[in-house]
Amino acid sequence: MLATPADAPSSAYIQIRGVSKTFEDASGGSVLALREIDCAIEEGSFVSIVGPSGCGKSTLLRILAGLLPASHGSVVMDGQPISGTRRDVGMVFQSSILLPWRSILDNVLLPAEVLGLDMAVARRRAMELLELVRLQGFEHKLPRQLSGGMQQRASIARALLHDPKVLLMDEPFGALDAMTREQMNLELQRIWLESGKTVVLITHSILEAIFLGDVVFVMTPRPGALRRVIRVHLPRPRRMDVMASPAFSETANQIRELFSHAGSFE
Ligand SMILES: Nc1ncnc2c1ncn2[C@@H]1O[C@H](COP(=O)(O)OP(=O)(O)O)[C@@H](O)[C@H]1O
Ligand SMILES: [Mg+2]
Repeated sequence: MLATPADAPSSAYIQIRGVSKTFEDASGGSVLALREIDCAIEEGSFVSIVGPSGCGKSTLLRILAGLLPASHGSVVMDGQPISGTRRDVGMVFQSSILLPWRSILDNVLLPAEVLGLDMAVARRRAMELLELVRLQGFEHKLPRQLSGGMQQRASIARALLHDPKVLLMDEPFGALDAMTREQMNLELQRIWLESGKTVVLITHSILEAIFLGDVVFVMTPRPGALRRVIRVHLPRPRRMDVMASPAFSETANQIRELFSHAGSFE
């Protein structure tokens, strides 16, 4: 069963309406990556997206970020159709893509330079954000002097520097070991609760998706369509031991079931 447009109230902060994406390949053929995605993302909510590899998750996020145009359909954010990159969006990628020759502080300040913000104001905000992601004292270090988890926290601070309403994250913790990843999940929940941002997180981990999400969008194999929107009714703030609760396991099983029916369990 595909999610219906009834899941997409017109008052939502982000409305994705009939979005499809076709890529042309080098030999003149075309690949349908996304197929008629219809959904809505409420302001201040935490949305997790899971789906098989290659189903179009990153493509969808790049369309939301205005980095890639949709082939059909539209995305409306805060009442305006997206037609390019926007100031109210911040993005975090799988690898932290910090510039190796710049200090952590100067990396966090990068968007201020790009957007031409007042540097004194940006510097104060950068220091506050480094505190939020618990990197105070590391501002003058180089990226290579920090662990992978710390580098990802710096990337989150950088994505928040210009105070975007929406934070888009593409498998940000995929390269981290399991323990660091759990720690990052707790940190991200705290940052989200403290900042009030709307977060869209792509993850390979069903457990991470449920632990963090208010809703989990489950996608089909390519061409990626929205298979199901699953609401997560677990109180906040969540602790790791919530994963042992029956409600958590039921939700995880529901999602696994959707994957196994699609013949692409991962
Ligand atoms: N720039 C591109 N040109 C051609 N094909 C692409 C491009 N980007 C992605 N694709 C194809 O679109 C499909 C979805 O890719 P992607 O969004 O990266 O999937 P996911 O993030 O879910 O793994 C894949 O088949 C991929 O090869
Ligand atoms: Mg991807």
